[in-house]
Amino acid sequence: MANSTPVTSDQPARYMVTSALPYANGPIHVGHIAGAYLPADIYVRYLRARQRDVVWVCGSDEHGAAITLRARKEGCSPREIVDRYHTEMQAGFAGLGIDFDHYDRTSAAHHHAFAQDFFKTLNEKGAFEVETRKQYFDEKESQFLADRYITGVCPKCDSAGAYGDQCEACGSALSPEDLVDPVSALSGNAPVLRETSHWYLPMGRHETWLKDYIENGALDGAPHHDAKAWKAHVKGQCRSWIDGGLHNRAMTRDLDWGVKVPVEGAEGKVLYVWLDAPLGYITATQQWAEKQGRDWRPYWQSPDTQLVHFIGKDNIVFHCIIFPILLREHGGYLLPHNVPANEFLNLEGDKISTSRNWAVWATDYINSFPDRADELRYVLASIMPEQRDAEFTWADFGARVNNELADVLGNFVNRVLVLTSKYFDGVVPAPGGAFTPVDEALRAHIARAPEEVASAIERYRFREALQEAMGLVRAGNKYLTEEEPWKVFKTDPDRVRTILNLALQVTANAAVLLAPFMPSVASKLSNTLGTTGLPWEATGSDMVTENTQLQHLPILFEKITSEQIEEEVAKLGPHNKNMSDALAK
Ligand code: 2FM
Ligand code: ZN
Repeated sequence: MANSTPVTSDQPARYMVTSALPYANGPIHVGHIAGAYLPADIYVRYLRARQRDVVWVCGSDEHGAAITLRARKEGCSPREIVDRYHTEMQAGFAGLGIDFDHYDRTSAAHHHAFAQDFFKTLNEKGAFEVETRKQYFDEKESQFLADRYITGVCPKCDSAGAYGDQCEACGSALSPEDLVDPVSALSGNAPVLRETSHWYLPMGRHETWLKDYIENGALDGAPHHDAKAWKAHVKGQCRSWIDGGLHNRAMTRDLDWGVKVPVEGAEGKVLYVWLDAPLGYITATQQWAEKQGRDWRPYWQSPDTQLVHFIGKDNIVFHCIIFPILLREHGGYLLPHNVPANEFLNLEGDKISTSRNWAVWATDYINSFPDRADELRYVLASIMPEQRDAEFTWADFGARVNNELADVLGNFVNRVLVLTSKYFDGVVPAPGGAFTPVDEALRAHIARAPEEVASAIERYRFREALQEAMGLVRAGNKYLTEEEPWKVFKTDPDRVRTILNLALQVTANAAVLLAPFMPSVASKLSNTLGTTGLPWEATGSDMVTENTQLQHLPILFEKITSEQIEEEVAKLGPHNKNMSDALAK
């Protein structure tokens, strides 16, 4: 009987899923992938397998100081920077099987037009206060210093090198005036103060409803989402931000690269990148809808949609506080249902750093391990920094590929197929008699595994989900080892029919459950078993049809050698390479 995983009671009509728009100022690395892209990809592949209505968008964040400072360092225009990395980032995503429904960019005209309209509406609704204030200014460069244009010591954690908008060491959102001993990132000089006018978002006005929204999952006194389903560290960061006092925050900047502020008196000013970038989620959805001949509005405006933002922890306040304020002030838009932010992934005992070339770059990995994206996806999902920072090491990567993928999954599947080929000419045998208690235990495991994996994925517990899926494979492997069909065949071939039928059912079910994590491996398995295209609901102990002729299975996993590990470790660091030459200028 096919397994029918029960529908959770709060299943929405549709899902709007977003992944943080990465700055187009450098290539994609494993830290990005483990933070905001792989978890979303797993989640969305799962929802698609459940035949739910889901759209997943992303795109390049092409404005802000991250871009202009990179252009300045490389002696080229911001346009050249964003064009180069917009292309390169997409290659990194594609190579790792990160399969957005639409990938856009914020320098596109359609995005500028929408962001300007959105800002105008906010302005007309009185969402801003225009204020003239003294701001840090670099006299040598004749430029106001906001965001990453100014650095100093973080007032919260005392780390040096905090930016004017954020401390990357502790994740706190900052303002330039918070920094201790500020210096200009352009000239290295101490800045002076000079007056300038900006459109400020008075966030203090929103404190009461924001608290209720984050702490209780309530909006306007009605339940909005399950606050208990939000990660503790996400709520904790929001709480500490709100408790620290919600101050007026400038939503415009004195810069020439960005979306021009569309109101009189704002010449020479652009929108704050953290106003324009999240609107990129909406403009990307609009572009997706236009291409598909669909309507984007239900995905952003209909209360039966769940909006889920996948991000890294340094983006929490922007998605949980500032963007919700903007959406609500504008009116007509949904607020996030959940923001399952991940913590950071470290690498070989150190923080990942683009400028120090301390990173595993997506495109480098693909070149070193062609057609082996699933191995990296598996390892990153196994160590995903869901609740706390995690660590990627090449030795651990090798150990997991060899001991878990090759020795457990690969070995199990290989044994099942070889035995089926040897005893039954590769044709799926029907069970050959009554099920024993051991068979029944395995059938029960097959029956409950889809529910357990589904429940973990829907709770954004991707590590747990992967463990559950691999748990079924381990159970199949143990079953095969203990039932010893190679010994039984001589005396009781019918019993072997049952054993191999069940082992093949385990394989087919595992292919469905592992597909969100390892899509390419899963599709090889399904093709071999003749179960391609079967949905999640087809899981169960009769997934593989009797008498099916099994197809050839290419080798699933090659072992990683110690030489390969050493080679990869040697690529890390500033001593090495093209990548750091370009990036560390
Ligand atoms: O931290 C970053 O890389 C930002 N570019 C993320 C932006 S997310 C969204 F708001 F677009
Ligand atoms: Zn800090």
